[in-house]
Amino acid sequence: MKIAVVKEIDGSEPRVAAVPETVKKFKALGAEVAVEPGAGVKSGVPDADYEAAGATLSADAVKDADVVLKVRRPEPSELARYKKGALVTAIMDPYGNDAALKAMADAGIVAFAMELMPRITRAQVMDVLSSQANLAGYRAVIEAAEAFGRAFPMMMTAAGTVPAAKVFVMGVGVAGLQAIATARRLGAIVTATDVRPAVKEQVESLGAKFIAVEDEEFKQAETAGGYAKEMSKEYQAKQAQLTADHIKKQDVVITTALIPGRPAPRLVSAEMVRSMKPGSVLVDLAVERGGNVEGARPGEVAEVDGVKIVGFTNVAGRVAASASALYARNLFAFVETLIDKPSKALAVKWDDDLVKATALTRDGAVIHPNFQPKTA
Ligand code: NAI
Repeated sequence: MKIAVVKEIDGSEPRVAAVPETVKKFKALGAEVAVEPGAGVKSGVPDADYEAAGATLSADAVKDADVVLKVRRPEPSELARYKKGALVTAIMDPYGNDAALKAMADAGIVAFAMELMPRITRAQVMDVLSSQANLAGYRAVIEAAEAFGRAFPMMMTAAGTVPAAKVFVMGVGVAGLQAIATARRLGAIVTATDVRPAVKEQVESLGAKFIAVEDEEFKQAETAGGYAKEMSKEYQAKQAQLTADHIKKQDVVITTALIPGRPAPRLVSAEMVRSMKPGSVLVDLAVERGGNVEGARPGEVAEVDGVKIVGFTNVAGRVAASASALYARNLFAFVETLIDKPSKALAVKWDDDLVKATALTRDGAVIHPNFQPKTA
């Protein structure tokens, strides 16, 4: 069983899909691991560390690999080098990318989309959305602190008092919870909002104040999977009114609101941005999915009347070493389930819930039910 660790072809992706610790674990399962030179450099892992963990270095690592570990979906130029039937694990970004899924099917690979891993107890250790969102939430606060011209904690000094920053977190999933915790650790006064009622207690347990329109619709807003539903126009209008008054008084707003398979909800209008004091900062973690903040631009820091809107993409990648370490462990935990330990060979159980939920392509076809070609 041969495993390849790829150097990401997208130069803006600093993460890597294996670290020396997971290389050792794969070796212990009987695998040969080959790493493309330079794969880990941007995550602080030099080639020599992979070698010390038992991997070989090879620019042709993928050529005869049975398993290819990646961060991002392979491009057509990469697919041409893969062996037919190779298992490829990555963050595949499958929604709205039918042509890319077809290209993977045509290449004859088995593509696993790690972000489709079901959120069941057994798969928590494989949950890449959580591992990366947690770091993105942390980093969003660090970005905000960097862009903000004032201090976060209250400071009482001989020269007078510096007030604590007021931070408002919108969307309290994994990223939002970590943003609250991080802002609290920096001494900010934190408030937060979400449309799922379960969040209220979590927000309060982190020492922040929960603010939301708590009507009947709010009480029904959580799906069985724990995700948010898209809210009605009426709810959105009430929510906008509540937040408009609140945002005016905030120094920092961090938005993380997402709805699976849908564009991100627009929570902060241009008018709300302009209502903030000059020097205030917004960080929009949803910018890659359409953005929660009007005027947020992917990859940029926009400025509106002295208010900064930070729209960095791949925010987890801005903490690349930590993000890679956690992502690599997520991948190891999943790939381990595809290996038969006694024979040390790959043995994919096609009827396993984890495989069924994540396998996009197999034997030349797109097999995932969510991505079947439309017949009508
Ligand atoms: P997400 O990334 O899909 O969305 C982020 C947050 O935005 C969510 O809390 C959502 O309710 C909120 N949101 C959506 N529309 C909004 C609006 N109009 N206004 C304000 N907020 C809005 O969510 P994430 O981080 O993936 O977490 C979703 C849930 O899954 C959480 O309850 C989390 O605790 C749970 N979870 C469960 C796991 C497991 O059981 N293995 C693992 C990780 C998370």
